[in-house]
Amino acid sequence: MLNAGTFWTQLIVINLIFLSFFTLPSCKDKPPKVVQSDSILSPTPIDVRPPFGFPPVPVPSDNPFTKEGLFLGRKLFYDPILSGDNSQSCASCHKQSSSFVDENMKFSFGIDGSKGIRNSMPLYNLAYAKRLFWNGAATSLEDLISEPITNPIEMHESWMNTLDELQAHEEYPLLFQRAFGEKGIDSVKVVKSIAQFLRSIFAFDLATHPDTTFSKRAMTPQQIRGLRVYVDEEKGDCFHCHSVSLLNTNYEFMSNGLVENPAQDPGLFEITGRPQDIGRFKVPSLLNIKYTSPYMHDGRFETLEEVLAFYDTGFHYYPDYPNLLDPNLKKHLDPQTMEPVSRKWTKQDKEDLIAFLNGLEDSDLLSNPIYSQP
Ligand code: HEC
Ligand code: HEC
Repeated sequence: MLNAGTFWTQLIVINLIFLSFFTLPSCKDKPPKVVQSDSILSPTPIDVRPPFGFPPVPVPSDNPFTKEGLFLGRKLFYDPILSGDNSQSCASCHKQSSSFVDENMKFSFGIDGSKGIRNSMPLYNLAYAKRLFWNGAATSLEDLISEPITNPIEMHESWMNTLDELQAHEEYPLLFQRAFGEKGIDSVKVVKSIAQFLRSIFAFDLATHPDTTFSKRAMTPQQIRGLRVYVDEEKGDCFHCHSVSLLNTNYEFMSNGLVENPAQDPGLFEITGRPQDIGRFKVPSLLNIKYTSPYMHDGRFETLEEVLAFYDTGFHYYPDYPNLLDPNLKKHLDPQTMEPVSRKWTKQDKEDLIAFLNGLEDSDLLSNPIYSQP
């Protein structure tokens, strides 16, 4: 309802706008000063270079990196203003100190203490992902970010409230103006700036960088043995999916035989509706895995020992979906019983593999000031 007070305020505001409009021409008389707001108005394009050896960063043509956009996105990422009761920011569930996941949480809590059903995901090298979320619900960073803000379990905010609060904030109107070269705040701008920030986060294993001049850490002899187990097709056999590359994943959606009943937890199928996608989930990178326990989309495993026991004899074959389990796991089944057969790995092999996995690490990511709260 419009009360008299608001009405008069609006009238005054409108008058002020008109007044300033009509007084403008008189400025022409004097040589224009270098108006600070003009330079503020044009965002500064920047070329975000990925670390050595990475592919060029795919940047959408309608959301190029700018210095101001990146800064704004980073600030918003850490700001609880985006959540319903201003208690939770993106960083509440994506903590830099734990590789941008929710510390030791199986499922993240939303603002009112409600629990989600998925384990939080680390945020790095997202520029290269074809799809995001465990089930691939988003095809680009611009596409996904509005989801947590309006998701009833996560941040529970409607865009209208968020935009009003941002508009009334003492810094944001100017920060948005600087980032987009025009006045006004809308959801597209919020999303674009956060997407710029997320697209600028990179990580790679400091020990296995293919160019040794870039590897900052040496692997221990045990970790080197563990790497051999990782690529040995009769032992770990992990590398087909979690590739030995800077990105450490093939970015595909596959089944590692985790879920008991694919029809009840159908993964990518929820999004594409294609029968062949029932039970497929995102193959995650294993970088910084020692900081991101618990593991898998439902956080069912707390330790890497449990993960190895699962890949040894715990994964499932699905008679109703004979092509679902990946051939690289199917080959470890007994052809008669279709039950997993224990691999040819010794206790020592498994300990070495765990040492290797714990060493897959970019510790710089956890404290790099360019990603921290501004
Ligand atoms: C309440 C906890 C919570 C909050 C708050 C939250 N997230 Fe998440 N985030 C998650 C969980 C859980 C997942 C995995 C969800 C799934 O796959 O269904 C996830 C997944 C993601 C992914 C996908 C990563 C990938 O590799 O596919 C991105 C990107 C992301 N979040 C960014 C954000 C941003 C940006 C915000 C703030 C606007 C945010 N999150 C707020 C918990 C949260
Ligand atoms: C056929 C492809 C494939 C192979 C082979 C494979 N994985 Fe995976 N891995 C996946 C997929 C898919 C997921 C996600 C499953 C989910 O949560 O539904 C995953 C998840 C994981 C996770 C959890 C990561 C996280 O962030 O929660 C770990 C740890 C892991 N795998 C380690 C290994 C190891 C070690 C090996 C070798 C012994 C291996 N994987 C072999 C496909 C594979």
